[in-house]
Parts: sequence; C-alpha cells; structure tokens
Amino acid sequence: MNNFVFCTPTKVFFGRGVEAEIGKNLRAFGATKVLLHYGGGSVKRTGLLDKVIASLNEANLPFIELGGVEPNPKLSLIRKGLELCRAEGVDFLLAVGGGSVVDSAKAIGVGLANGCDPWDFIESKTAPTKCAPVGVVLTLSAAGSEMSNSDVITNDETQLKRGITSEAVRPVVAFLNPENTFTVSKFQTGCGIVDTMMHTLERYFTGDADCDLTDRLAEALLVAVRDAGRAAIANPEDYEARATLMWASSLSHNDITGCGKIRKFPVHKIEHDISGVHDNVSHGAGLSVLFPAWAEYVLQYDVMKFAQLANRVWGVEMNFDHPEVTACGGIRAMRAYFKEIGMPTTMKELGITPDGYDEIIEKTTLGGTVLKSYIPLGAKEIREIYRLAE
Ligand code: NZQ
Ligand code: ZN
Repeated sequence: MNNFVFCTPTKVFFGRGVEAEIGKNLRAFGATKVLLHYGGGSVKRTGLLDKVIASLNEANLPFIELGGVEPNPKLSLIRKGLELCRAEGVDFLLAVGGGSVVDSAKAIGVGLANGCDPWDFIESKTAPTKCAPVGVVLTLSAAGSEMSNSDVITNDETQLKRGITSEAVRPVVAFLNPENTFTVSKFQTGCGIVDTMMHTLERYFTGDADCDLTDRLAEALLVAVRDAGRAAIANPEDYEARATLMWASSLSHNDITGCGKIRKFPVHKIEHDISGVHDNVSHGAGLSVLFPAWAEYVLQYDVMKFAQLANRVWGVEMNFDHPEVTACGGIRAMRAYFKEIGMPTTMKELGITPDGYDEIIEKTTLGGTVLKSYIPLGAKEIREIYRLAE
C-alpha cells in the first residue's frame, strides 16, 4: 500500500426531504448571496427548483439564477456565470443538477476565488489552491463530482475537454435525495451506472500496489451498483436501488476506493476527447465502449487482477491453471452487462468511424502527451484500443 492522504470534507445530507435543509445550511457555510446554477430544464419540470428556492427564501438568503448548462459543460457559459457573480457579489455557488452543472459551478468558483479565467489553470497545468464554496443538490447519480476533487469542462472554441484536479474544488455540502433521480431516463441511468463503476475500476487497475482492503471495498461497491443498476433500469422509482446508485456515485469518486493506489485514469482521458469532439456522446456511453477494449489491450500485464475482478464481481469461475481464461470471461461478462442495461459497446454505436479517429487522437496526444497505464499509451496504442472497440 502506498502512502496516501485521505480527506473528504463534503458534508452530506442524504435521503427524502433533504431540500428543506438547504437554506439554513448554506448560511452556516457563510453564504450571503447565492448563484443558483442548473441545466437545460429538468429541475424546473420536476419541481425541484421550486423546493430549493423555497428553502433559500425561508433562510432569507438572496440568490440569482443561471440555467442553461449543457452536458459536457461549456467554458462560454462558465465565463458568463463568472461575470454575473462578480457583478452581483455572489459568494456561494449552488449547483442543482448532474455532473455537468456541478462542474460548471466549480469552474465559476475557481475563477471567482482566484480572480482569473478558470481555463488559465488548464493551460498552465497548475492546480488552483482556492475555490469559492460550492454546494450540490444532485439529480443524477454518475459523475461523483458532488464529492470529488475534479472539475471537467469543455472549451467550446477548441473542443478540448479537460480537467482541473485540486482539493479546493471539493464541494462543501451535498444534498442527496434519491427521489430526485426517479425522472432520469434509462439511457442516462445506464451512463451513470457505467461512470460510477469506472471511477472505482480506474482506481482498481493501476498495477502499482497491492491493497487488499481497498480492492474489497471496490468490489463491494461494484457488486452493489451492478445489482441496483439492473433494478433501477427495470423500475426507475425503486427508491432503494436509486439510493444505492446515488451513494455509490459519491463514494466511487471521493477516493475511498483508491486509497494507497496511484491515480492514473487513462480510459477517462481517452474518453474525454471523444465527448469533447463529439458533443452528442455522453461520458458514460464513451466509457462503456472504451473500457472493455482498454481491458483487452492491457490484460496481459495484470492477468491475475483481471481474473480476480471476473471472479468476485462478474461471477466467472476461477481457472487457476489458465487465469487468462477467467480474465477474458470477466471482460465478456462486463460487456454483456453494459449491453443489458442499454449501453453502447462499439465506436460505431457512438457514430464514430475509423476516418474520424485521427482528429480525436490528436487532441489526446497534444504536445506529445503519453497516457500512463500499464504501458505508456500514445497515438498508436490509443488507435489499437479504438480498433478493439469496433
Ligand atoms: O440539463 P438538464 O435538463 O438538467 O438534463 C440533464 C442532461 O440532459 C439530464 N438530467 C439530469 N438530472 C435529471 C435529468 N433528466 C431528468 N431527470 C433528472 N433528475 O441528464 C443529462 C445529462 O446530465 P449531465 O450532468 O451531463 O450528466 P452527468 O451527471 O453524467 O455528468 C457528466 C459530466 O460530468 C463529467 C463528464 O465528463 C461530463 O462532462 N465528469 C465529471 C467528473 C468530476 N467532476 O469529478 C468525473 C467524471 O469522470 C466525469 O468526467
Ligand atoms: Zn467518469
């Protein structure tokens, strides 16, 4: 087990009715003027926005609104939000929505606290040490941004989708009511199941350290998500299933399933450029296509670990004489599960054909970037992974 620092400062209110806690708790976190930030309208249709506003009013907490965050949140709207917050003296960002809304709020918070454009940090490859406080009312279990130290945004001028990683961007508070995810479509529910699994799997397959406790926590989360995922797809209003998915979304990306491991996240980095260039590709759908292909490509470097996952999570019988058979069976079972929950597993299903590969690979390998994985992944290796997903 490698040395690690574990700090998960987000205060979580979980369960039915937590919206009533919002106003007074934002005040407790020092808010005097709030930006109420949301997406394309789902929070209006479900009536959640009205509940949030009622709670802010009850606490006499002034606020302004900015909706319109798109999936793969865009820098142009973040800049607009930043100007608005500066002009209005906003000191607290409240995101009501999924990962895109949370990440848009985080980026505004970074700009606000540092008196600069948030993209400057991406350009200079530095991490901000400050961020204005961010709170989350989560409506989609997926990205884990409600407790994570990541902020992923898309520059709509260059189509580059990049992340800021800093302890400063962890939200101070999250209000998690599983009922607020009942209206999520089957497709977005599937994307969320895959993304939640991936945040744990990317920490599981690092090849750098043996951490039995961390592995077993990861496997428990994966099994619970596997089963709750099936149940939520079958019955979108299954409270227990939605509750499991929501809590798993947070725990999968708050680092608890990665303690003692080195963070690399190669499949995420490959995927971000796919959804950066192809705005219609949801992050979870891109991962569903890429992860099994990446697994096939690197399997030979960690056969026993892939066999362990296959056996403990996907129920494949362990073949001790030929563990590679078990490992391959696990990847097949994972692909079958993704198909079962309605997720794509080929590049073609994402609408991407081989003549479009170079444009995306150029972004991933910009400036000679080589991704860390079991072996370094440059343009040639990434193309091979795409091919395995054809
Ligand atoms: O915009 P609205 O109308 O709200 O509709 C959204 C959107 O169209 C809809 N939706 C959300 N909650 C709903 C709902 N529809 C009905 N009922 C509800 N309760 O779902 C659509 C997708 O929303 P989005 O926020 O984009 O999805 P998700 O939560 O999966 O977030 C994806 C973004 O997070 C980034 C991804 O790259 C992507 O940009 N990630 C952020 C991470 C982080 N900051 O830690 C880590 C992840 O690995 C990921 O990269
Ligand atoms: Zn993700």
